[in-house]
Parts: sequence; C-alpha cells; structure tokens
Amino acid sequence: MAERILTGIKPTGQLTLGNYIGVLKNLPKMMDRGECFIFIADLHALTLPIEPKVLKDNSIDIASFYLAAGLDPKQVALFLQSDVSAHAEMNAIMQNYLYMGELSRMTQFKEKSAKMKESGIGLGLFAYPVLMACDIILYDANTIPVGEDQVQHVELTRNLVNRFNQRYGNILQMPKAVTPKVGARIMSLSDPTKKMSKSDPKGDIYLKDDIEVIRKKIMSAVTDSGSEVKYDVENKPGISNLLIIYASLKDISIKEAEQHFKDYRYGDFKKEVAQAVIDELEPFKKRYEKIIASQSYVEALKDGAAKASILANKTLNRVKDAVGLFRAK
Ligand code: TYM
Repeated sequence: MAERILTGIKPTGQLTLGNYIGVLKNLPKMMDRGECFIFIADLHALTLPIEPKVLKDNSIDIASFYLAAGLDPKQVALFLQSDVSAHAEMNAIMQNYLYMGELSRMTQFKEKSAKMKESGIGLGLFAYPVLMACDIILYDANTIPVGEDQVQHVELTRNLVNRFNQRYGNILQMPKAVTPKVGARIMSLSDPTKKMSKSDPKGDIYLKDDIEVIRKKIMSAVTDSGSEVKYDVENKPGISNLLIIYASLKDISIKEAEQHFKDYRYGDFKKEVAQAVIDELEPFKKRYEKIIASQSYVEALKDGAAKASILANKTLNRVKDAVGLFRAK
C-alpha cells in the first residue's frame, strides 16, 4: 500500500519549539510522499481540565500553525477530530480490545494521573490511548510522524491491530511510528533532563513568544560546567539540547553542529543558536499571523473534515461488519 501519513496535536496549551521540531516542521516534506491526514486532537484535550475558550483558541492556533508550517489544505486533509464523528464511534468499539493492564502501564498516563490524584482521574485520561489508536486505524495509516514521547502509544496501537486482525482477519492496517533523526525529544531549557512540554513557561519556547523573548530564553538556558561545546547528554545535557536544536533547524547532523561550534565559548554558541531559532520562527510567525487574521483555517478545516469523514466512515463500516454489528442503514 502507498504511504498514508497521519498525525495529530492536542490543543491543551501553547505549542512549543519541541512540537515544532518534533513534528510540525517535518510535515510539509511528507505531503509528496503520500496521502496525509493531519488533525487537531481536540477530544483528547478534554482528558485534563481546560477552559472552553482556551480549548477553542488553542484549536484555532494549531490549525493556523499547521498551515503556517506549509501544509497545503488542497493536498492534505486538515481537520478537527471532533468534526469527524467516526473517531468517537470507533472508540466505542475498540475500547473492548485494549486491556486495563496495558493502559495502566502507559508512561503518559502514569505521569498525568499522578498530578490529578486530588481532583480525581477522569476515565478519558485512562482510556486516552484507545482514542489515539482509533485516530490512526480509521485512516489505514501506516506512517505516524511523532516525537519520542508518543512512540509508546503507537506501539500499543500495533498491539491492538495484531489482536484485532488475529481474531477477525486482515481488517486493520499496521501503523509505524516515525521519529525525526535529530530532535525527537527536545528538552526543557531550565531543566534539560526533562522534556520540553506545553506547561513549563520557564523551560519552554512557545511558538507565540515574541522574538526578543525567545532570544532571552535561549541566552539564559541552563548550561553545564566546563566551557567546551560538546555533545554529551550524560554530562552536558544543556549544551547537548542546544546542539540538537541547532542541528535540527539547520538540517545537519549533531556531529556537524559540534564541528561548527568547536572553538566557541558558551556565550557565542548560545547567541548563534538563538539566531538560528529566530531565523526559522520569524517568517513562520508572520505566516501564522496572516492566517489568523484572514481566518483561512475555517475553509481548510471544513474541507478537511469532509475528506476525512469519507475514509473514516468506510473503515468504521468495515470494522462494524467484521465484529457483527448489523447495519440497517
Ligand atoms: P502532543 O500534542 O503532546 O504533541 C504533538 C507532537 O509533538 C511531539 N512533541 C515533541 N517532540 C519533540 N520534543 C518535544 N519536547 C516534544 N513535545 C511534544 C509529540 O511527540 C507529538 O508528536 N497524543 C498526541 C496527539 C495525538 C496523536 C494521535 C498523534 C492524538 N492522536 C494520533 C499521532 C497520531 C499528543 O498528545 O501529542
């Protein structure tokens, strides 16, 4: 089968440089490799408490960032997960084929639920990977571009596909996670042993940050003792993270980045990394602002949902038939 590419971003907070390097920037290159289904995982955002206005604004932001990154809505299906009801319907079926034991072993569930002990842990947070598996199988997707933290969820989807196909025949397509060679896990600038995530204002670079704020954040990124710019994740996690950011944005290997900075002191090194980030994000942010102002995301999302629904409903019907759900319409 030709390549079918699918990925999503959850509108829970401000998008970071981690999201940009991990997936966003790599998507336009994939448009020519196969059919792309790219979405905003808004139902997933409800698994943690979120204000309605924030959810809505974040969803619009992500749609606009996808377009600003260069996705052509004529060529790819760009849509909101909640606009394609087949996701929720498939979820109702597939929740019976993943087990509580395997869901409770998911790293993301363990991390997120630990913070929710007092307020109560919603069932949706626990069942999150079921819906994510449905996102993937609905489109017979085989290539799933993600950052490292989502690989475990794609692996679980593979288990589901195996289990389901063994029982019902060859019904579901087997997906595979694809992570970038450089930049699959961008770390926090304030604590480079932790992942850059949407909820750490000090350690994050937000795509919506002003250019000068971005420069300041990189200049004050935690570095390590010593003065040599060297890739050594164990002993120099801060420097290594900045080297990864630079290499990824310049499309070079970490070795080449290391070579480029071999005679640099930390201060000059950071200055040049900051400039590389700004050179990349400045035009991207301008495109984003234009898209927000013109609201061109509305048409794109409408078209995308229509395109996505056709395929998703086909797969849903195939699954209904396989498990024995009688369809009277
Ligand atoms: P989310 O919204 O947390 O992140 C979106 C994408 O960005 C990647 N990412 C990173 N990559 C590198 N370094 C980082 N610090 C970093 N932080 C985040 C993530 O790995 C992800 O690829 N569950 C998903 C959304 C989703 C999905 C799907 C993805 C729902 N259904 C189906 C793929 C296929 C999530 O919460 O991503």
